[in-house]
Amino acid sequence: MAAYDYETHDYDVVVVGAGGSGLRATLGMAEQGLKTACVTKVFPTRSHTVAAQGGIAASLSNMGPDHWQWHMYDTVKGSDWLGDTDAMEYLARHAPEAVYELEHYGVPFSRTEEGKIYQRPFGGHTTEFGEGPPVQRTCAAADRTGHAILHTLYGQSLKNNAEFYIEYFAIDLMMSEDGACTGVVCWKLDDGTIHVFNAKTVVLATGGYGRAYFSATSAHTCTGDGGGMVARAGLPLQDMEFVQFHPTGIYGAGCLITEGARGEGGYLTNSEGERFMERYAPTYKDLAPRDYVSRSMTMEIREGRGVGEHGDHIHLNLSHLPKEALQLRLPGISESARIFAGVDVTKEPIPVLPTVHYNMGGIPTNYWGEVLNPTQDEPNRIVPGLMAVGEAGCASVHGANRLGSNSLIDLVVFGRAAAIRASEAIDRAARPRTVDTAQVDKALDRFDSLRHASGNVPTAELRLEMQKTMQEDAAVFRTAKTMAEGVEKMGAVAAKLDDIKVTDRSLVWNSDLMETLELTNLMPNALATIVGAEARKESRGAHAHEDHPDRDDDAWRVHTIAHVHDTKVDLTYRPVITDPLTEQQQGGIELERIAPKARTF
Ligand code: FUM
Repeated sequence: MAAYDYETHDYDVVVVGAGGSGLRATLGMAEQGLKTACVTKVFPTRSHTVAAQGGIAASLSNMGPDHWQWHMYDTVKGSDWLGDTDAMEYLARHAPEAVYELEHYGVPFSRTEEGKIYQRPFGGHTTEFGEGPPVQRTCAAADRTGHAILHTLYGQSLKNNAEFYIEYFAIDLMMSEDGACTGVVCWKLDDGTIHVFNAKTVVLATGGYGRAYFSATSAHTCTGDGGGMVARAGLPLQDMEFVQFHPTGIYGAGCLITEGARGEGGYLTNSEGERFMERYAPTYKDLAPRDYVSRSMTMEIREGRGVGEHGDHIHLNLSHLPKEALQLRLPGISESARIFAGVDVTKEPIPVLPTVHYNMGGIPTNYWGEVLNPTQDEPNRIVPGLMAVGEAGCASVHGANRLGSNSLIDLVVFGRAAAIRASEAIDRAARPRTVDTAQVDKALDRFDSLRHASGNVPTAELRLEMQKTMQEDAAVFRTAKTMAEGVEKMGAVAAKLDDIKVTDRSLVWNSDLMETLELTNLMPNALATIVGAEARKESRGAHAHEDHPDRDDDAWRVHTIAHVHDTKVDLTYRPVITDPLTEQQQGGIELERIAPKARTF
């Protein structure tokens, strides 16, 4: 058994992760008087939310008529009818109040002439239940909205006495014999000490796992740490086959060029200078949802109309927009285009390519953020003491495809919801549990065996192998053959974790060990993705199966539930929630179900 001393901390709530959802949950919990800690592997304002550009969706009607029910409808349609209706209703209903709260907390939103929050068009956001023109629903702080939100939420959390443990890496969850989460074991990166956080509730807000792929807009820290810990605790992941490719990552660099660029009037062209989106999506054109636009771009490239020396990318044109508009509304991406593509956007198009951007799947939860461990008889069974919010979770509000700017609103609406629920559920007067030393030992044994791993495969080499496999075999378009090959290759890649080689044995700022721990988190996420994709014999949202090009609601309007054990993935399925919230749940008029129909734009 590994011998490490550790320090114990007792909290009502421990939030793991300090991005938008983690900070909104932390702030909400602290505001409610819960003793709250936020544990984060990076400084809070360096969390990946800082990179969110275009904005946050809410039907404020500042730029023309809008309604939360139109927002809900667009989200349902955008999800290709895989999202849970109660969660999508909760999101759209509460989005306006969540944005006004942000405004009052101090987020410096861009403004209209009358001083209202500025809103821009984004893909798939429409009026009149998908029958009307595009709507300006995406509230923006220029093209640095995530940055503005993150700094504000961090300041507010400090003001409300939340305690921060910065540069602490979460190794594993502690689970009781009766299946409840009781805390988390962490490693303090800058001095090598071990810390055990005992908590009445743990909230996983660890973000996505974009770095399972070779080219992603995600930060290098997006390593699916929550999903990894959950899988090791014997709990499932949900709908992992749905991986979003953002249409406009900078070719060769992967950095994001916001969809807000098209919202402000930018457009895509092929090698013939044609605005090809007019053929694929005659009504919404460049503002169709991301899965649609990414597939259309890939088809143009495949059919020989890509741009550049190798005909392998597409042009995003902004040079027709007034210089002042670019400076005012899109300063960040103008700079990114200059630095990463050597392009002056006032004169030349930006070379772009669909790039992995977001994971619709994650840790299954209800719309309060409570983690689910579904069984056949009890599809909505709750795991006591464990919540998940933001990209780490799957509420499921984005289903098979997320609409742009529905991510930031997901972070704040569900971060806030988790705080409301926890404050009702947690007994503030209850004494903390005694630390389960067997659980601590189990986490530290794993930590120690990786620290002393002396196999033959360096972490960076194995990570690259995983990333290339995922990039090739779980791409924008997928075939039965590529996915079957992918399942086999990923099984072999994951098996090599047993032969991993860590060279640095120290405990202080050991980035070799940290990246190895991260790789052990990425791996179950990647395995669940490729196995879930291979099994799903239909096309829906971001899962474009070339051998099964149609959506099949009779067989496949279900959530994939994946249990990952080492290199093996067991799949079961859970019904999609098709009923809106009841009158009792939301205190207003009950909505009708939204029946599935063909998704055209
Ligand atoms: O394009 C963007 O600004 C990204 C927004 C989002 O993913 O919601």
